[in-house]
Amino acid sequence: MVYTVIMSGGLGSRFWPKSRVSMPKQFLKTVGDKTMIECTVERIMNIIPKERICVVTNKRYVPIIQNLLGIEEKNIFKEPMNKETASCIGLAAVKLLKRDFEAVMVVLPSDHVIIGQEEFEKTLKTAIDAARDGDYLVTMGINPTRPESGYGYIEKGEEIETGIYKVKRFVEKPNVDVAKSFIEKGSYYWNSGMFVWRADRLLREIKKYLPELYRSLMRIYEAVDTPEEDRVIADEYSKIDGISIDFGVMQRTHRAVVLDTSFTWDDIGSFTALERFLNKDKQNNVISNCEAGLYEVENTMILGNKRLIAGIGIKDMLIVDTDDVLLICPKDRCQDIKNLVKELAGND
Ligand code: GDD
Ligand code: MG
Repeated sequence: MVYTVIMSGGLGSRFWPKSRVSMPKQFLKTVGDKTMIECTVERIMNIIPKERICVVTNKRYVPIIQNLLGIEEKNIFKEPMNKETASCIGLAAVKLLKRDFEAVMVVLPSDHVIIGQEEFEKTLKTAIDAARDGDYLVTMGINPTRPESGYGYIEKGEEIETGIYKVKRFVEKPNVDVAKSFIEKGSYYWNSGMFVWRADRLLREIKKYLPELYRSLMRIYEAVDTPEEDRVIADEYSKIDGISIDFGVMQRTHRAVVLDTSFTWDDIGSFTALERFLNKDKQNNVISNCEAGLYEVENTMILGNKRLIAGIGIKDMLIVDTDDVLLICPKDRCQDIKNLVKELAGND
């Protein structure tokens, strides 16, 4: 059977101070009037029934997830700490395999915006069909529009079935110059970060490329549904070296295929990415969630809270107001918010 695995352990630190360790961005109403994780569930519900929607998350977020999504506790896979996506997906694979030896996993991040529901469902059905036999790790390719260095890039190779291509090369987070060269070549997609594969196939790839993680996952597999499960997961997680599925498996595997997509996709990875989805005034300012008194202010993004925000003669800035923190930074430095948060760790 087919299961959805929603990865929801990220801290969203590039969205600080709106996103906090206690309430990361996937649980916020970042675009529109629903939280990003609710949108993720709604997007997939026509294809996969709710009882087969699973979420992998840090144990501290279980109450928030139950409250927002109302999914059964047995479908919330709890991690004691964040060890990146290879272990998150591996944990889901062993939990599902214990239930269903032929489990197919649709792995979805919890922080994307997708517009074009019909195209999304069509692509996903093709991806599930391609993954069902267990030969392929299926990725979905997005046509790139800028040399973004925060994404993975997929070079498409020969067409093995209509609209399904072998992956010639997968490069995770290249620098901007390399990304530019990929875009000029024209044969590269962005990796959407959504994957479809059989749980047993994924585990065989983990065995090949991340053998230590595989050994930990097998010890967890033995303990699933026993009174020892939480303790074994905690023991193994304390030993695991964190690595993403992209660096750990996707860059190395020979079994990846890529589907062409036609829906609109965005990873709302930073405030400037969010800006693309918000209305702008005549001076190109975005003013959200507050009143603003602006005099000769241009190209500035203001995410307010309760009070009026006033400014004179500013340009290209980001202003984020919350109950206890006010952040001000040039828009082109917003990727550094993550570094600032690291420095402030403990004050969150
Ligand atoms: N449960 C859990 N545990 N979830 C995690 C963990 C973890 O340790 N780490 C990250 N996640 C979740 C995040 O919440 C997010 O939903 C998803 O996994 C992906 O992690 P990101 O940290 O957002 O990855 P990325 O955006 O840098 O890169 C990935 O996505 C890009 C597209 O959005 C890669 O797959 C890139 O290749 C891809 O282009
Ligand atoms: Mg992301």
